[in-house]
Amino acid sequence: MENYSNDYLDRLFGRKKYVVRDALPLNIAVSEFVSELIASSLGPRGSYKLILDKEFGDFVTNDSGTIVNVISKDKRLPPVIQLILQAANVLKESIGDGVASMIIFGCELLKKAGELIEKGIHPNIIREGYKIALNKALEVLQKISFEIPLNNRAYIEDIMKNNIKSSFPENEWITLCHSAVDAISKIAIYDDYTKSFNVDLDYVKIVKVEGERFFDTQLVNGVIIDKKRLEPGVPKYFKDAKILLMNTSIKVENTRHHFFDSKFEFEIETPSHVKKLYEVKDILLRQKVEKIISIGANVVVSTDEIADKVIHTLAKRNVMAIRWVSKLDLKRIAKLTNAFIVSSLTEATGADLGKADTVEEVIINNNKLIVFKTYFQPRSVTFLVRGSNRLVIDEIERQLNKMLKVLKILFEKNRGVYGGGACEVTLSLELKKLAQEYADKRHIVIEKFAEALEAIPMHLARNAGLDPILTISALRKLHSIGRFESGIDGRKCLIEDMSACRIIDLLPIKENILKNSVEVVLMLLKVDEIIREV
Ligand SMILES: Nc1ncnc2c1ncn2[C@@H]1O[C@H](COP(=O)(O)OP(=O)(O)OP(=O)(O)O)[C@@H](O)[C@H]1O
Ligand SMILES: [Mg+2]
Repeated sequence: MENYSNDYLDRLFGRKKYVVRDALPLNIAVSEFVSELIASSLGPRGSYKLILDKEFGDFVTNDSGTIVNVISKDKRLPPVIQLILQAANVLKESIGDGVASMIIFGCELLKKAGELIEKGIHPNIIREGYKIALNKALEVLQKISFEIPLNNRAYIEDIMKNNIKSSFPENEWITLCHSAVDAISKIAIYDDYTKSFNVDLDYVKIVKVEGERFFDTQLVNGVIIDKKRLEPGVPKYFKDAKILLMNTSIKVENTRHHFFDSKFEFEIETPSHVKKLYEVKDILLRQKVEKIISIGANVVVSTDEIADKVIHTLAKRNVMAIRWVSKLDLKRIAKLTNAFIVSSLTEATGADLGKADTVEEVIINNNKLIVFKTYFQPRSVTFLVRGSNRLVIDEIERQLNKMLKVLKILFEKNRGVYGGGACEVTLSLELKKLAQEYADKRHIVIEKFAEALEAIPMHLARNAGLDPILTISALRKLHSIGRFESGIDGRKCLIEDMSACRIIDLLPIKENILKNSVEVVLMLLKVDEIIREV
């Protein structure tokens, strides 16, 4: 096959320009390698990898998303790996969790497809069987899912503790978990119409400042921006601040043209006219300052320029002006303070102003920051992440982002399934029953899909130091007598009741893991040859 294709292309292009190889054996071999690499990190007892990265230096992690990021940078990897890793990255960006499970399950499906092809089953039949199995699996998942009570704070915190594995000490990690739940509870908005929560993660900001320890990381009821007072004379601290938010500049153009439209229109012909021009500019700037004072603002924030003269004059009147703030930060401050963002100073009124309990300039490890705080129902919050060095704070940020994404999913769609491999065993048994309904080759394809699902509990058991085969047999037995809550408790290293241990996985995450893995595998099964330029 390989020679024929090469000969053909040789003839077609007049020289040996391309190499053609059968795709599937290579795909399977490579995916097995990736799966092995990631599988040892699965679950709470997953092992760590020491990453020697040219860009970020050396660090230790057990987060599959990070491992995937590092290996996907290697351009020598065959395209198949890149496809799986890209799909894993998409999952990581959108859902934030489930990367390891997706890779393990996807690779297992590919391996099983290889076995089926060896038995003479055409890839198209495998694709069809896999699609049938996926649809059934999604249907069963829905059926076995249950509601997670969002008003039970302890329940949610337990789920989070089990859901996210961390390289940080347990106690400090738990504190961070609690803060993340706090943060989301503050910004989640209940929609009476849809009867569900909306969580906009734009309103949880993460600010990293090197120094102190992980334990000093804190959740602030407000917005922190990386800005400082521009005039030393202006107060550092404002109580009951009235804040004007602008998305335009506060300045006067230094051009003659600008004055044509104003009531000060005149022609510049002599040096005295230039002087006049500056006087007029001064008057216009003062008018802007007067306007700000008259509506009662004592803090002005703009995404654009604020003229030095305005900042200086405002400072003399005890008004703090902050310029070049990002649009996202302005949106956060607006949410926190209930302000309306103003596009034209002329039209601004006192009703547009936002209110903050305090606005303060603070100095943290030689960094000046401005902190806007409200104590009652803050709708925008900030994590001030501290850690001894860059690597530590970057890792905290990664973990926090992951936790926040999972919490968003939990609040917006509070349905769960039993974790610790329990739901995979349930699905596997259901699919084996479904396979019985098919008398053709799809029977064996669906059975292979069911076996592939067991890869998750197998690896969880192995990583917990249990015998994978014995554990799976025991779980199958329990599930077949209706004990669907039985799974692996990775911390106690036993088969346990997942409901009692609160080892719960979120339904949307499980659904995405299944859909994404099957999607990649279906695509790879369509590829029969790889043609590479030499
Ligand atoms: N305490 C626990 N005991 C046993 N299994 C657990 C426990 N907590 C979570 N799990 C299981 O571990 C699996 C998730 O592991 P893990 O978080 O390492 O991988 P992932 O979510 O697939 O990928 P990612 O690296 O993106 O988090 C799920 O199947 C979950 O049910
Ligand atoms: Mg996870």
